[in-house]
Amino acid sequence: PVAERVADLLARMSPAEKVGQMMQLDAGGDLADHILATHVGSILHTSPDGLREAHDLTARTRLRIPLLVGEDCIHGHSFFRGATIFPTQLGMAATWSPDLVERVARVTAVEVSTTGVHWTFSPVLCIARDLRWGRVDETFGEDPFLIGEYASAMVRGYQSEGLSDPTAILATAKHFAGYSETQGGRDASEADISRRKLRAWFLPPFERVAREGCRTFMLGYQTIDGVPITVNDWLLDDVLRGEWGYTGMLVTDWDNVGRMVWEQQVQPDHAHAAAAAVRAGNNMVMTTPQFFQGALDAIDQGLLAESDLDPAVARILTLKFELGLFEDPRRPDVERQRAVIGHPTHTALNLEVTRRSLVLLRNDGVLPFAGGLTADGTGRARGGAATARTVAVVGPLADDAQTQLGDWAGSSGQAPWLADGQPRELITTVLDGLRAVTPPEWTVTYARGADILTLDTDPEGAFFPDGQPRPQVVVPCPPDQAMIAEAVAAAEAADYVVAVVGDRIELVGEGKSTATLDLVGGQIALLDALAATGTPLVVVLLASKPLVLPDSALTAAALLWVANPGMQGGRAVAELLLGLVEPSGRLPISFARHVGQQPTYYNQIRGQHGTRYADLTQSPAFAFGEGLSYTTVEYTDLRIDSAELGPAETVRAEVTVHNTGSRPVRETVQVYVSDTVTSASWAEKELKGFRQVDLAPGERSTVRIEIPVADCTVVDGRGRRVVEPGDFDLLVGPSSRDAALLRAPFTVTPGAVTPAP
Ligand code: IFM
Repeated sequence: PVAERVADLLARMSPAEKVGQMMQLDAGGDLADHILATHVGSILHTSPDGLREAHDLTARTRLRIPLLVGEDCIHGHSFFRGATIFPTQLGMAATWSPDLVERVARVTAVEVSTTGVHWTFSPVLCIARDLRWGRVDETFGEDPFLIGEYASAMVRGYQSEGLSDPTAILATAKHFAGYSETQGGRDASEADISRRKLRAWFLPPFERVAREGCRTFMLGYQTIDGVPITVNDWLLDDVLRGEWGYTGMLVTDWDNVGRMVWEQQVQPDHAHAAAAAVRAGNNMVMTTPQFFQGALDAIDQGLLAESDLDPAVARILTLKFELGLFEDPRRPDVERQRAVIGHPTHTALNLEVTRRSLVLLRNDGVLPFAGGLTADGTGRARGGAATARTVAVVGPLADDAQTQLGDWAGSSGQAPWLADGQPRELITTVLDGLRAVTPPEWTVTYARGADILTLDTDPEGAFFPDGQPRPQVVVPCPPDQAMIAEAVAAAEAADYVVAVVGDRIELVGEGKSTATLDLVGGQIALLDALAATGTPLVVVLLASKPLVLPDSALTAAALLWVANPGMQGGRAVAELLLGLVEPSGRLPISFARHVGQQPTYYNQIRGQHGTRYADLTQSPAFAFGEGLSYTTVEYTDLRIDSAELGPAETVRAEVTVHNTGSRPVRETVQVYVSDTVTSASWAEKELKGFRQVDLAPGERSTVRIEIPVADCTVVDGRGRRVVEPGDFDLLVGPSSRDAALLRAPFTVTPGAVTPAP
């Protein structure tokens, strides 16, 4: 039994060996020395060669405790050549299909497990509220319910039926908790967040996966009320370990323990920092090499007892035993890699999820091109001379393969062994896709039209503590009139112009929040010039997160948001433009009209007199849940079975959805609940469920809705999650926009209930 083996091994370990087990280091220059001298328990960000060497060195340590290998495989294996790269989490969230996302996680685990990685730092459960934050792309968007559905699905996909499955990998719920609640959108700033706000919106997705058995949690960088999460007793002890009974492993974020000394300056030295981190319940300390000596000094100085290390080390050893690493360290398996990495079934799943992630935000009828085509046996559109058209493809992202993949995909400089990113031939850009999918009689032309940015060094040297200039400061490229003229000429000679614009990897990721949400560089001037040509303009927004769009994009003939759509992105986009697939993505996050409008999420606390701008509406450019199809769908006849319910009962209702157009549709029926009077201020409505239904042209369907009253909770002024008896409205429709929703009242009578998280 694992517990006995853990106890036996623990009893044979020296204090130094215990501290070493708690250390996770990256593949820096002195990793080899650390493994031999400090018995490192875990590594991350390691090249295939580095991994082999690390295992060999570990086998030379006294107890030969196998390594636990972690990696950020958050939409496919981040750093492995040829791995299947899916849309980012935000892109996948637009599918509104947790089932599909579970399959993505399963396939990711199958690929990742062949590469010697046992543990992925995914999924991200942060709630994206301030769009300036650099890591919006890594989230499932702005709604806690939707996030919980996806996170739960991803954890199931990664961890499979159990860790003894050789294709299972450990999942990580991160970043616990409130990390995204930034100041001014700036990454890792103080999270100004009350306990009520945490309980109301930020903690529920974490509680769900904690209770469902997600094996590890990562603690965010931020402080709350001045207390770094790393040592936040309330969150770690009272809530996570106490209320939720979580027994999994806690890993810090990058150098969280060191940062308490050199950055946040809340600990005087590494001994105190190590003692505080261990006592607060951290188990694995990511990339703080000073933790080794710090923890040993803490024991010498009486700040820590050796036995204080035991629970942490036991958790780590338990996972290693459960994964079977003592019998088989699960090293990279080249044979299995050849068999599964980039397998055609994985590519097919990738194409499916990408197709369903695309969100059509505007269409004046230009799409699908030529009224819609059908595919031949090879997936290419069938046209014939009568439909022959010219499509001008323009824009700086029309053929930018690495940007299309997004962050954590080998293109962000974190994996030198993938110097040039993923192999170009595995990635279909929008230009590639249109060339491949348009009928043979069609002509596809290309002009880049604009650049986005160049990089410079930071003259203030503000990023690194030693004043070393940060090499990456973004300098927008001015519009280039010659490039624009070339694109305009291409547009004028075409039947349609497809402009692919958005953001680049330098504007996305950790430490890369943006002060504006604008299209950077020459992109706005390009779109304005293209709009003036009169050729129908289709804007493909290849942007990691919602950006603020100029009028030329908002009034274009069509607008499609594709996030960072991964390897199959360009093919899926081309298929959608030609009508080979139907648009079905729905926004998991709102689009702002102006950066100063932040935040724009739909489930804000009910407003009061004055909660509006004098110079701008507060309504978003595009609201949570929105997305168009190539047909029209009517919602009618919302009927509640019983409009008076006890708190332990379930709201049962049905609604009729009718495809009134001439093309098929996958409709996402969204169900919101509004609690009309609450004891503490609350959101006007919250998503409580959704169903997808496929409708043929003209088809009508009755969709059943079931929402447990126990889910219709608020967090009261004392921080308790409760169902408050009284009047509610059930709201059903195609998006969170009020005008789109049918409404049916129901009443909850007093009574006892244990609310769901
Ligand atoms: O997993 C990540 C985390 O999301 C941000 N900091 C670095 C970690 C390891 O790469």
